[in-house]
Amino acid sequence: MDAARLEAILSRYEGEPYDLIPVLQEIQDNYGYLPKDEVKEVARRLNVPLTQIYSVATFYKMFSLIPKGRHQVKVCLGTTCHLKGGPRLVDSLSSRLGVEVGYTSKDGQFSLETVGCLGSCAQAPVMMVDDKYFARVTVDKVPKILKLYQS
Ligand code: FES
Repeated sequence: MDAARLEAILSRYEGEPYDLIPVLQEIQDNYGYLPKDEVKEVARRLNVPLTQIYSVATFYKMFSLIPKGRHQVKVCLGTTCHLKGGPRLVDSLSSRLGVEVGYTSKDGQFSLETVGCLGSCAQAPVMMVDDKYFARVTVDKVPKILKLYQS
């Protein structure tokens, strides 16, 4: 645990149990996920039950309990994208990256997740890598897209 880094965050929220989400968000932004030791310390310092923190952390998609990869791959599985091949993209990415949805590849390069409608239904199926959108993605295009991010 990086005590100094955590202290810098927690010192701003001491004794404020209702600020749980902003605290977790800051930790997520700093560490890229919610490390177990840091979560325990948050529970102790804010006097919030550990179960409540895990309940919040698993409810909101913005939080992750596992380290995120260098690149975040998100496949839209909203209704339109689902109908136009989103699940096939998920299978292809999962197999090529060797990672299940919700996890990070062993080399730490890619995290794979599915998301609800990204607001570009006319271009379905849609996926994102980090902040970049890819429209009308077919399974054939997946290797080319990944290659842009593989180092
Ligand atoms: S359903 Fe995928 S962008 Fe809307």
